[in-house]
Amino acid sequence: MSPKLSIEDVELSGQRALVRVDYNVPFLEGTSIISDDTRIKASIPTLRHLIGKGCSLVLCSHLGRPKGKRYPELSLKPIAKRLSEILEQKVQFVEDCVSEEAAATARKLSEGEILLLENLRFHRGEEENNLGFAKQLSKLAEVFINDAFGAAHRAHASTLGVTRFLPSYAGLLLDKEVNYLENALENPELPFTAILGGAKVSDKIKVVDRLTTIASHICIGGGMAATFLAASNKEVGNSSIETNFISQAQTLLNENDSKSGNLILPSDVVVVKTLLKDSDFLTKSVDDLEDSDIIVDIGPATAEFYSSIIRKSNTVLWNGPMGIYEWEKARAGTRSVAKALANGSMLSIIGGGSTVDAVNFLGLQGQMTHVSTGGGASLELLEGRELPGVTSLREKIEG
Ligand code: 3PG
Repeated sequence: MSPKLSIEDVELSGQRALVRVDYNVPFLEGTSIISDDTRIKASIPTLRHLIGKGCSLVLCSHLGRPKGKRYPELSLKPIAKRLSEILEQKVQFVEDCVSEEAAATARKLSEGEILLLENLRFHRGEEENNLGFAKQLSKLAEVFINDAFGAAHRAHASTLGVTRFLPSYAGLLLDKEVNYLENALENPELPFTAILGGAKVSDKIKVVDRLTTIASHICIGGGMAATFLAASNKEVGNSSIETNFISQAQTLLNENDSKSGNLILPSDVVVVKTLLKDSDFLTKSVDDLEDSDIIVDIGPATAEFYSSIIRKSNTVLWNGPMGIYEWEKARAGTRSVAKALANGSMLSIIGGGSTVDAVNFLGLQGQMTHVSTGGGASLELLEGRELPGVTSLREKIEG
């Protein structure tokens, strides 16, 4: 994607800015207690930068998938409170993002003051990218800043439509996320290794395909390894596989054999007979699996081999856990990869979603170079797709 102007490239002094953030954060079940405020904290550099320029801020975000209806449990009100605690300043809140009250409150904001709007997705117009709705949002400010990397793959009113009506720039988080991921793909310091796991091969097959021409090594783990192993004619027992993707996986493996040979599958795995955390866990070679075996992790030899590859790499991109890391006995593969990254000096980029949860769970997030806030967005970027929330921003004129 061509480089975009960020808030560091333009003069925004004293302007009222509509800032799209991704405050789609998890809550402790049945409560309004935020269980992980990483995404709120990740927006702070942009907010502080704009406040430092004397801007007043109208923040907007989605939360969950309410599909045009109001659900009290999907209100952003608790987020206004948390943001206010983090910033140590008042954050105003209005209960409808496009009401007269929202417009009047936005107009009255003084330099450095912040208003957070209620959940954008309480209006259907948001996900439909309705231009009338986008125009109403745009009227709340003089300039638009997109800092919601996690929602940048969505062509919604607050990520795409609004850019028709306001000069639109990248926030610092969005800029940083795109730069890390694009540099890894376009200009990685070699050797460049991709560690790909997670449950579903359907989520990652396009990424595997693209990376076979870029990465020095692609190490496969997680539930998706079962489909790749089945595609290479191994017995995978009762492991869940995506039969629709076997032939694509076979093509990738065949092409890989004849060309780069950089696609690596597990040589051993941890298996159970019943998918329960207190089952008996056994380590087996991938040549010895029985009909009743279910793969739940990569085995110790594979974990050590992947870790040795990581240690020799200068750039590592990791997306997807190696096994059911929530279970102590199926965690070793994920832990081993995470530790090799945490202890190394390579550039380590952690894809969003469950990989971030795994790294947080192991307490190693602070030891990675970059931990993405976007799950779907980072996968789409890695697949080589354009992100509407990025392409719609003003371009840098290079030269
Ligand atoms: C995410 O959590 O991945 C983003 O906030 C996007 O949410 P969505 O998948 O509901 O659009």
